[in-house]
Amino acid sequence: MNLFLIGFMGCGKSSQAPLLSERLGLPVMEMDREIEERAGMTIREIFERFGEEDFRMRESGLLRELGDKSYVVSCGGGLPLLLGNRRMMRESGRVIYLTAAPETILKRLERGREERPLLRGGAGLSEIRSLMESREKHYRAAADFLVATDGRSPEEIREEILSLLPFSGS
Ligand code: S3P
Repeated sequence: MNLFLIGFMGCGKSSQAPLLSERLGLPVMEMDREIEERAGMTIREIFERFGEEDFRMRESGLLRELGDKSYVVSCGGGLPLLLGNRRMMRESGRVIYLTAAPETILKRLERGREERPLLRGGAGLSEIRSLMESREKHYRAAADFLVATDGRSPEEIREEILSLLPFSGS
């Protein structure tokens, strides 16, 4: 069974995954990195050369492969937008939605913004807010549990997630 971490860019999926991996004894699958490795190029290059739709197909393909495996999966921020992806996640594990206020996201994304094609070109608070609002219903539809991350340490967040899981053993 997989543990999927979903949420907006900068909500803390990538930093949470190794912490949970250590406690659960499951390997980490960082989807963006895996897609980059397989493609031999960065996400940004994939978007530029092949477009967003192509990237989304790579994401869904990788997700399908994870179906019968057991990973802590750090999902790209757009993965839950497709109904098929939401179904695959729910069928093959538990889904945790990490929430954060747009202000928090903006602060966390100060670095690494250029690597995120959807936020390039100086996206500010209002762009983040509106993209987030349009995605919120999909994140909620995919999630088994919501976990708030604003103003909390990674360890606190990890403990809350573990308390929600039937297979945590803690
Ligand atoms: C995306 C989020 C990114 C990456 C791509 C698209 C999105 O992942 O998959 O840039 O649509 O929100 P992170 O959420 O890990 O930044």
